[in-house]
Amino acid sequence: MTSLSPRFLSLAAAGPETPADCAAELAAGLQAQPAQVAPKYFYDALGSALFTAITELPEYYPTRTEAAILQAHGGEIAAALQAALPVGFDFVDLGAGDGAKAAALFERLAPGRYIAVDISEGYLRQALQALQRRFPALPMVGVGLDFAARLALPEGLPAGPALVFYPGSSIGNFAPPEALRLLRQARALAGGGALLIGADLVKPVAVLEAAYDDALGVTAAFNRNLLSHVNRRLGSDFALADWSHVALFNAAESRIEMHLQARRALTVRWPAGERRFKAGERIHTESSYKWTPPAFEALLREAGWPEVRRWCDPREWFGVFVATG
Ligand code: AVJ
Repeated sequence: MTSLSPRFLSLAAAGPETPADCAAELAAGLQAQPAQVAPKYFYDALGSALFTAITELPEYYPTRTEAAILQAHGGEIAAALQAALPVGFDFVDLGAGDGAKAAALFERLAPGRYIAVDISEGYLRQALQALQRRFPALPMVGVGLDFAARLALPEGLPAGPALVFYPGSSIGNFAPPEALRLLRQARALAGGGALLIGADLVKPVAVLEAAYDDALGVTAAFNRNLLSHVNRRLGSDFALADWSHVALFNAAESRIEMHLQARRALTVRWPAGERRFKAGERIHTESSYKWTPPAFEALLREAGWPEVRRWCDPREWFGVFVATG
């Protein structure tokens, strides 16, 4: 068996922004009323490690629940996908990370090529090199792209009807209109193939709030770590100890919100500006939308996927959806 090596493509135009863009975006968010920082700033190297730790917390059910659904219903899910895909299809992984979730499906789905898309190109490069050693005959392409801005791959990627894989309820970071836009782009990308997507579901508020405010304080550390990332990107002087982690379920919007709340009145300064915060004032760092199964199915249909199937855990805490047609 010949061992291939992964190819890499960087979509600089659509993807990772320049340091100046980044600083401008952060400054605008901090000057806004209320202040906000986009959740992509969670994921520096330490933030990515903290997120991995979150997925192992007893309170954080999404990752293990999704894995259990894929395990329990893997045969049916694979059959539904294969009915909609040609032999040797391209497997497009959105937010691939270390590629482990996709790799768990390779044997069952037998894709012809793996196209891993992630905002963090350096991490992706390392991950694909390791993955290529485990799957030496599967051609792999890495694409560095912030697909939240626009989901469009270079010419020829994918080739023909493809599987678009978007697990982990990452779609939850998008408000419904943006989620709809992204799912329409996913449909165009799939080119008549299929979408395999995970979405976190509405459930008792106590369960949701515990998942985003765990007893060990890992999610609090994950949230506060965003400020040290912002300090490096913007040159700001956030003191992490001045900020408390807040996680609450906003029922009207059906979303968990994470905020950082100022413990006292303070001023944050950076080279081109500053922002005063009153005691108790918040920075909104994340929204994580929770769907009902019918609402998420309707969203997929509105995005242009006429056929939708769903698999859930027995408590209906998480949904895995296959959209085709
Ligand atoms: C990666 C967006 C799916 O919303 O549950 C976990 C991120 N934030 N704990 C989520 C997250 C706090 C996560 N997603």
